[in-house]
Amino acid sequence: MKEKIEEIISYVKEKIETIEKSSDCQNLRIETLGKNGKITELFRFMKEVPANEKQALGQLLNTAKQQVESIISAKETFLQSKELEEKLMSEKIDVTLDLNPDEVGALHPVTIDFMRMAEILTGMGFSQIDGPEIEYDKYNFELVNIPADSPSRDMQDSLYITNSILLRTQTSNTQPRAMEKIKPPFKVFSFGRVFRKDDIDATHTPAFHQLEGIYIDKKVSLADLKHDLSLILKKYLGESTKTKFRASYFPFTEPSVEVDAECNVCKGKGCAACNGAGQYEILGAGMIHPHVLELNGIDPNEYSGYAFGFGFDRFPKMRYKIPNAKVMFENDVRFIRQFK
Ligand code: DAH
Repeated sequence: MKEKIEEIISYVKEKIETIEKSSDCQNLRIETLGKNGKITELFRFMKEVPANEKQALGQLLNTAKQQVESIISAKETFLQSKELEEKLMSEKIDVTLDLNPDEVGALHPVTIDFMRMAEILTGMGFSQIDGPEIEYDKYNFELVNIPADSPSRDMQDSLYITNSILLRTQTSNTQPRAMEKIKPPFKVFSFGRVFRKDDIDATHTPAFHQLEGIYIDKKVSLADLKHDLSLILKKYLGESTKTKFRASYFPFTEPSVEVDAECNVCKGKGCAACNGAGQYEILGAGMIHPHVLELNGIDPNEYSGYAFGFGFDRFPKMRYKIPNAKVMFENDVRFIRQFK
């Protein structure tokens, strides 16, 4: 009997090693401890065993039964937790999975160029400020010396929301906004969208970008303006790009200048990008009109200043050889994706 028991135990130990599925443990349990199991059969012999040996043999069988059960259940528990882990692994959502690189956004060409310009300006001591796109006509016109009856309002066909609120036509609205908030001396720039009533074609869109620069201090002169703008343009357009300052007129500056830059596509020869001119107008600037300083509470006898305003779509358009102004505002990802 003892030998039989040992035989069954070593059979179980051997068999358990080969089991790989928790459900197979139950089969081994049935085979050994079930109704007709190997151990259960041995219990049946008990009645034939002499009375004096019954107790010892009974103990032996019970110990064997427990041993078999613990061998089987240990493996069963081990396999069950392994199977659960595998199930969880296979159903897991991997949140660290890399995105398809095609889906990663790209910066708009105007933004790329603005970031370059912002770096140049901050390097020269300018701080960035912001102005509203929906603006009172007071800031957009009146406080920059364009009164209600001024013919120069005809220069800009505006998009009005109410009688006194419009979509700003120029970032020059940040001039009075800055003078209202900041005490001179200050050196600031502002970038953003401006809006005019314009039909869309290859060179016109009803929304476009401008960048405004303002410097107010004691004794700021035209020489400062020429020096600073030349430096900005050299850094922005490249050392060798030729620029030309010429006299112009703006209601909020006196004297006023406009700056032309050599076309960087044809290098001055004339091409489709510059409409054959070999150059393009890049900005307007001038010494802030004393009347504008006065209108905004700054004493023109104590302070003077300069301002400049870049049209900010032209240059990225030429730089990246974008033939149509319209695509700059459509935000089609197939277009923007190219500027990575
Ligand atoms: N605001 C002008 C425009 O929209 C551009 C401009 C010209 C801005 C001269 C300035 C300036 O600050 O001094 O055409």
